[in-house]
Amino acid sequence: MANKAAAEHASSGQSADYSRYNQFMEIVRNRITIRSFDPSYVVPREHYEMILEAARHSPSGADAQPWHFIVVTNPDTKNKIADYCVNEQNSRAKLKMKFPTPDYRGLRTAPGFIVVASDFRWVRAFPVLPDSDTSELARMYVANAERILLQSVAAATMAAHLAAAALGYNVWWVTLLGQEKAQNALKPILGVPEDLALLDIMCFGPPPPDKKPFKRWKKELNEIVNWERFDISHYMTLAQIDDWIKNKRHLVMYKPASDIRG
Ligand SMILES: Cc1cc2nc3c(=O)[nH]c(=O)nc-3n(C[C@H](O)[C@H](O)[C@H](O)COP(=O)(O)O)c2cc1C
Repeated sequence: MANKAAAEHASSGQSADYSRYNQFMEIVRNRITIRSFDPSYVVPREHYEMILEAARHSPSGADAQPWHFIVVTNPDTKNKIADYCVNEQNSRAKLKMKFPTPDYRGLRTAPGFIVVASDFRWVRAFPVLPDSDTSELARMYVANAERILLQSVAAATMAAHLAAAALGYNVWWVTLLGQEKAQNALKPILGVPEDLALLDIMCFGPPPPDKKPFKRWKKELNEIVNWERFDISHYMTLAQIDDWIKNKRHLVMYKPASDIRG
């Protein structure tokens, strides 16, 4: 069943049935970020469950499934989390990172949050050397294991975002990772044990009545695909990357694809 279209394509020479792929791509293309929501909308509990059911089936290193999802609908808790993010946005603005930080006040309008957490102790499930080994090699394997863990949680998070898109919602992926302050401020609010790490917040819902979601610019397929060997024309120098960051990043983040030139 899973390989029906591929099998048909290989065996018949006739055009394969791509209807399931096309339906899937409809969802993929319409997974679109918004940064404020219709505040009057209530997400049915069933939808949280349907979304997290998609996350549950995700692949993970060693099938360790190192993820936890905390659904937050309590307005008081939501406001505390949103306030933290707004304050963080304000502190970041003073740090002169030049990052076009989004307006986190929109978090207050999200019908609910799904806070995504992980447990870095699960790196032990991946190829690492014994705790007693303090060598550079051991550190390298721990760094690899952390990548495996983060990729695993990202895979599950992405499944959840696609499921939300399949239910007709817009989405918002908000990072918490690596901010010690975020961990200290938010874990007690959510009753999350010290050993766990909060990684991000997933928001989803319909847009506010006065805002129309827009599709963002995406690279063309031939810019990202390399056949057999890396196409060196895809390589960017540091100066080119810096130029992109300076001149294009704010546009691709906040303008529709139709406003962006390749
Ligand atoms: C790993 C990851 C982290 C992100 N972190 C943030 C974030 O902290 N704040 C935010 O407003 N958007 C965040 N986003 C959303 C991106 O800005 C958004 O996906 C991107 O601009 C492309 O837009 P699209 O989702 O409509 O395709 C994040 C997305 C990903 C995948």
